[in-house]
Amino acid sequence: MTEDRSSYRPTAKWLHWLVVLLVATQFSISFLMPDIGRNTVPGTLINLHLSFGIVILAVMAVRLVYRLGHPVPLDAADAPKWERALARATHWIFYAILLVGPFLGWASASSHRLPVVVFGMIPLPALAAPGARWANQAGDVHAFGMWVLLALVGLHAAAALYHHLVRHDDTLRRMLPAGR
Ligand code: HEM
Ligand code: HEM
Repeated sequence: MTEDRSSYRPTAKWLHWLVVLLVATQFSISFLMPDIGRNTVPGTLINLHLSFGIVILAVMAVRLVYRLGHPVPLDAADAPKWERALARATHWIFYAILLVGPFLGWASASSHRLPVVVFGMIPLPALAAPGARWANQAGDVHAFGMWVLLALVGLHAAAALYHHLVRHDDTLRRMLPAGR
């Protein structure tokens, strides 16, 4: 039972901050990598993007399984109902984008003839035929979805800091390494 816990479990914290690190790295790569078009030759940054994307997908799959087995209805009874609903919705949207989004990018990579070989070691199959229209469109949805993710992360982080600095409650502390 987790109802009376006042902090996230260590595994949940590890997974949370690992994903933050990976997603921050991935956005840095996304900003720097060249646009992917019909004749793009995969260079280091593009290969890193595909590889980190697959790693994020794998970690998020582990995290989802963990999360479903360890619900975290932490007590925040003093927060307004709408705020708790918004936080909960944001959390599930993160799972959705980070679990579905990579497949859309992967399909787009395949349609652009970019092989997905995780860190040059683990080759993965193509998800779409070269030039497949649906997969090119999936790439547009992928990029859009990831910008939505970035905006929501901004909101999520601002909310965490607001709770910590203005409300002076335990919201942020319970996700920090030694926090309670
Ligand atoms: C969750 C992890 C991921 C994040 C945060 C992410 C983020 C992004 C962003 C922000 C862009 C737009 C870049 C720009 O327009 O300058 C993009 C494009 C792209 N990403 Fe990802 N990505 C992720 C995972 C993946 C994976 C797993 C693959 C493939 C295996 C992939 C393949 C692509 C491709 C092919 C594009 C170009 C799409 C197009 O313009 O059609 N991404 N990604
Ligand atoms: C890539 C960026 C991020 C993602 C994808 C993300 C995702 C999540 C998710 C899914 C949860 C729900 C708990 C769980 O299922 O493990 C959560 C909780 C939390 N996150 Fe993040 N997060 C990100 C960045 C941040 C940042 C930058 C901060 C702090 C400035 C932060 C602070 C928190 C806090 C305090 C909680 C607990 C909230 C509560 O108990 O209501 N997160 N995050």
